Amino acid sequence: MEPAPRRAALPSRHLLAIQGLTAAEITPLLDLADGYVEQNRRPEKKSALLRGRTVINLFFENSTRTRTSFELAGKRLGADVINMSASASSVKKGETLIDTAMTLNAMQPDALVVRHPESGAVKLLADKVRCAVINGGDGTHEHPTQALLDALTIRRRKGRIEGLQVAICGDILHSRVARSNIHLLNAMGARVRVIGPPTLMPTDIDRLGVDVHHDMRRGLRDCDIVMMLRLQTERMQGQFVPSIREYFHFFGLDYAKLAVARPDALIMHPGPMNRGVEIDSELADDIDRSVILDQVELGVAVRMAVLDVLARHEVAP
Ligand code: CP
Repeated sequence: MEPAPRRAALPSRHLLAIQGLTAAEITPLLDLADGYVEQNRRPEKKSALLRGRTVINLFFENSTRTRTSFELAGKRLGADVINMSASASSVKKGETLIDTAMTLNAMQPDALVVRHPESGAVKLLADKVRCAVINGGDGTHEHPTQALLDALTIRRRKGRIEGLQVAICGDILHSRVARSNIHLLNAMGARVRVIGPPTLMPTDIDRLGVDVHHDMRRGLRDCDIVMMLRLQTERMQGQFVPSIREYFHFFGLDYAKLAVARPDALIMHPGPMNRGVEIDSELADDIDRSVILDQVELGVAVRMAVLDVLARHEVAP
């Protein structure tokens, strides 16, 4: 007899990072998200699972994908969803992060989705509230739901994650997406290479269990997945690349560089994309290679799965 599928649950009431999660915790969450992909493709997309629950999106940094998909995810599960951006809040009048958190906590939400420019700020806030806190991206630290949606995209396209060769390319230094993906892909048994100029590599990169390359043609050889990253200029103080033109020449993904990857290699990008900077525009739109819009679609399903588990306060025994 087949063993019963493991029920999705997380080891904490919050989702602050991928680091520390195991394949046994990640896989059931992806299985749950798979079901929500089907729900989202039906004409009637709503269920009542989270009826009566409240989700607050608290964003101290701009976002298109994460904020919108968490809003859709909450609404499709029947929750009441409030969006709050720091620029339109009392933060502008000098209210601190902790006071903001405690104020929102007093309104009895069931989940807070928080994005903040400082690494560690979401954890600080999570320690002050009773509800579940989901990290929507904190500084250069982690963006856990992005890595989960990337994993779901890979698994649906390739049928597995274990054993795949995944190249993460570009501005690794400033990328929370890279960090979360490295932890997740390692946990799931993929082999990760990072490719970028030395100026955009974290000094502790060797400790993350990846192969490091500074040459795209060497790094991309025979890989199954090419994950491109944006130059995060908003986090840069000083000059990290000589010029955009030179950066694209050496590190921008185009058909010539992609030719050394496996013929069925998939191209991914968390967005927002800078066409002609880290990726050739035609390649980004190539429906035979690029799964960038699949990532966006699956992001809603993954966030429904995370809210399903956390906004109902289900924590692993
Ligand atoms: N990938 C991502 O986090 O995109 P947004 O900044 O638009 O949310």
